[in-house]
Amino acid sequence: MGETDPTHFPILPAGFRFGTATAAYQVEGAARVDGKGQSIWDTFTARTGSILDGSSGEQACDHYHRYTEDAALMQGLGTGGYRFSISWPRIQPNGSGRANPKGLDFYDRLIDEVLARGQQPMATLYHWDLPQSLEDDGGWLNRTTIDRFAEYAAIVGERFADRVEHWVPVDQPNVVTLMGYSIGMHAPGRAMLFDALPVAHHLLLAHGRAAIALRSIGSADALISVGCANNHAPMMAASRHAADIGATKLFDALWNGLFQEPMLLGHYPADLMPMLQDVVQDGDLATIRQPLDFYGLNYYSPMKVGAPEDDHAVMPFELRELEGYERTDSDWPVVPDALRGWLEGMRRAYRAALPPIIVTASGCAYGTVPDADGVVDDQPRIDYLDAHLRAVAQAIAAGVDVRGYYVTSLLDTFEWSEGYTQRFGLVHVDHATQRRTPKRSYEWFAAMVAAQPAASG
Ligand code: BGC
Repeated sequence: MGETDPTHFPILPAGFRFGTATAAYQVEGAARVDGKGQSIWDTFTARTGSILDGSSGEQACDHYHRYTEDAALMQGLGTGGYRFSISWPRIQPNGSGRANPKGLDFYDRLIDEVLARGQQPMATLYHWDLPQSLEDDGGWLNRTTIDRFAEYAAIVGERFADRVEHWVPVDQPNVVTLMGYSIGMHAPGRAMLFDALPVAHHLLLAHGRAAIALRSIGSADALISVGCANNHAPMMAASRHAADIGATKLFDALWNGLFQEPMLLGHYPADLMPMLQDVVQDGDLATIRQPLDFYGLNYYSPMKVGAPEDDHAVMPFELRELEGYERTDSDWPVVPDALRGWLEGMRRAYRAALPPIIVTASGCAYGTVPDADGVVDDQPRIDYLDAHLRAVAQAIAAGVDVRGYYVTSLLDTFEWSEGYTQRFGLVHVDHATQRRTPKRSYEWFAAMVAAQPAASG
């Protein structure tokens, strides 16, 4: 990509919502403060070798104490939305029973502060930090975790529904299933391969049950807009050979179809049903298919898939390198047109069943740090955001109803198994001093938002 012309910005329709996104474990720190319970990420990061740089989210961005400064940064961007997650073990330290008042108080303060800074809150209930006590009882492999989750959803809904505009019950159930339980690269670090499939079903049920719990909140001033945040990746087959095409279809069903089909249509992809029939009970699919006020899409890049080259491979597919594109520091190819294609494909595939889409996470890692003058010149991120917003604008012009775009991330955060090695922020964070430095991409984003034709809050 060439230099982005700073005077020509992507233009989105009036009312389009620009925002930034974070997750509790990635930014809050304060891991043992105010009665917070242990989460599976506290446990996992303590395990030698689990995190690339040996770090953890124990301090992260200390957002728990610095949220006022961070909300001021959001205001400086001129965005209208902030997506964050609520840490379940802050609210219920052991995952059940009475709520911890100090945990609730923190989110009260945070929500009030971001609202005062012009940001409408979008709250994710589960962004991967399961209370460890629940994991000790089987975690998402155990159906009773769904009942606990519905209770937790009701607690936070009752408390915050008067101020939270959008709710996302579960962030990226496919990442939790695959990375957390199938290959074990994320907490809880279980490597069960296909035996992890019940986790997907239970997370989908948790989504449905939380949606029901949120919608049954009685108070008249409750603003209940419930969506999802599903990660999707367009799949490309490594070749036209039947083995590669078959492997791609299977991985596509597992990564994409397994989550979007039951949420939007109320059934699983036919190829996967035999693997799920032992866990699906009567009524489950109806519970999963709750009306969605918006469909949240987390988009990063397409994936290239082939049949395994090694006869002894444990999985019947493998990811291959998608060549011919620039790559971010996470080694993800930069393919904005695949975002346009995915949005248009969703509209074609689901038609009336598809609610308005919000891009609930999109962004890139580049390791740029302050230069001698303190400037963080991250031009590749500007190019990335510019191109992806143009892709969204093209999809809208082609008739797709896309209502917003939340950048991953406001800050350089704890990037899960990559620790602090990947910088996704519009704002640079020196994790030793907690000093925040807005990057050039931050200035660009603020100018882009200000250049929109009508207030886009
Ligand atoms: C996740 C974030 C993560 C980002 C980059 C997002 O979809 O929600 O937690 O930092 O992907 O991996």
